[in-house]
Amino acid sequence: MTGVMALHKRLREETRTLHEDLEHAVAIDEQISSRTRYCAYLARLWALYSAAESALGSHDFSALGFNYGACRRSQLIESDLSDIGVDLVNLRNAIRPKAPALPTIEHALGCIYVLEGSALGARAMAPEVETKLGLTGTYGAKFFWGYGEEGKPIWRAVLASINAIDPVSSEAERVIQSAQATFLFFRRWLPECSAAVTTSAVA
Ligand code: HEM
Repeated sequence: MTGVMALHKRLREETRTLHEDLEHAVAIDEQISSRTRYCAYLARLWALYSAAESALGSHDFSALGFNYGACRRSQLIESDLSDIGVDLVNLRNAIRPKAPALPTIEHALGCIYVLEGSALGARAMAPEVETKLGLTGTYGAKFFWGYGEEGKPIWRAVLASINAIDPVSSEAERVIQSAQATFLFFRRWLPECSAAVTTSAVA
């Protein structure tokens, strides 16, 4: 494949401005400026990850060499909120926005790329969450610290599956379109101003 950009690289380039825009809109420093803000942020994240994970639940990735558990990232968020004392019943009863449809396995790969790739950025922020809020990888900030070594095989398998796709093909277009749609889903619902759906979950 000399001279042709592997699909992961293409994907990163085709979502770069969406990532930058999302990062800017979220203003993470403000979200971790107090435990109250942090919990509200986690509640919004939970609504989005759990909606996207439910959509992924209808796909079987075993032919690609990995399994994607239904609650990977959202489970960490639930555990963090529970550590801090947030009532999960309210959280689970809150209305969740509808995630973009994933009609094909390529759409599912585009979505997983965004969910699992976001763990890299979260991990980079984890030391700051610990310094500012006193929350750690075993108490309150598991979502930020992530699965560590345990999570790496999934990320590697996702990237291998993505890079096995011809980067100039209709399959590749589906992966890219879905990753962009997933970024836009987070962009629409994650910033604080669009929090109406979930803020009631956090006192
Ligand atoms: C809110 C503040 C955020 C910050 C400061 C941030 C920062 C970063 C950083 C530093 C990386 C590179 C990490 C590395 O290569 O080791 C990264 C990667 C990534 N982030 Fe974010 N991020 C944020 C939010 C998000 C969100 C909300 C999503 C999507 C839901 C997201 C999706 C991704 C993806 C897909 C990658 C992997 C790109 C690749 O290497 O292919 N990020 N982020």
